[in-house]
Amino acid sequence: MQLSKRLEPLSFNVFADMDMAKARAKAAGKDLIDLSLGSSDLPAPPHALEAIAQSLQDSYTHGYSLFSSTEAFRQAAAQWYNRKFGISVDPETEVLALIGSQEGTAHLPLAVMNPGDFALLQDPGYPSHSGGVYLAGGQVYPMPLLAENKFLPVLADIPESVLAQAKMMVLSYPHNPTTAIAPLSFLEEAVAFCQKHNLVLVHDAPYLDFVFDSSSEAPGKQSLAPSIFQADPEKTVSIEFFTMSKSYSMGGFRVGYAIGNPQLIQALRQVKACIDFNQYRGILNGAIAA
Ligand SMILES: Cc1ncc(COP(=O)(O)O)c(C=O)c1O
Repeated sequence: MQLSKRLEPLSFNVFADMDMAKARAKAAGKDLIDLSLGSSDLPAPPHALEAIAQSLQDSYTHGYSLFSSTEAFRQAAAQWYNRKFGISVDPETEVLALIGSQEGTAHLPLAVMNPGDFALLQDPGYPSHSGGVYLAGGQVYPMPLLAENKFLPVLADIPESVLAQAKMMVLSYPHNPTTAIAPLSFLEEAVAFCQKHNLVLVHDAPYLDFVFDSSSEAPGKQSLAPSIFQADPEKTVSIEFFTMSKSYSMGGFRVGYAIGNPQLIQALRQVKACIDFNQYRGILNGAIAA
């Protein structure tokens, strides 16, 4: 049997490999302290669980969930964002429900890249960022994150030859695994860079609520870590990914969303329309309640 060449760069998957290692250790009767995956060991909020439990009894939730069925969720996401950052978001054209940000970040390259194009990714970075690029037939240009640069990429170091073939840059702050926070000034620099080089700017922001240091450089009304749209309020080049997995301990429920430039949201929606029918309505109700 011949399998596709695009699987070759995916032969190593850190989560699958660690999962097998954990299973082997457990089978051998070993006690584990599991640092392999940032999965919350706290329960989801009771009001979210209650909304999901009630939805289960409602047969309306049992059917397929097309885009229109995600309306209340998209409105809740837009309101949440507006409350937190004071920037308005159109729930119809600027929000898309996701089956987690892993799903969204992995599918986006299919909407943005042609085979052979480069994506500029953080090194170290989250596996779905590179995985999606490989599935789209793209090439990864790793941007090293070094302690001496406060774990921010040096944009001036990216060669012109790569930029000529690049379609997107992916940033993710607060950053997993370094915990670095990008100040708003860096996000502004990245937005200007992407505008200049005609790149899509992806910001994967699952840890936006996980900042507790009031001496942080990052401004923001309530959040200490900036959102990409504070640097790109007109949403000219950017798309930002959010998840219920971290702040609400709902990782197993698989629910997140993207906010962004309407063309990008529409493009990702087109890709997903071939692949999924959104998350179960009951779980969307739980996320709204959360
Ligand atoms: C940077 C980053 N992006 C995405 C994810 C996955 O989030 P989700 O559960 O929404 O797919 C994680 C989870 O650890 C992450 O660290």
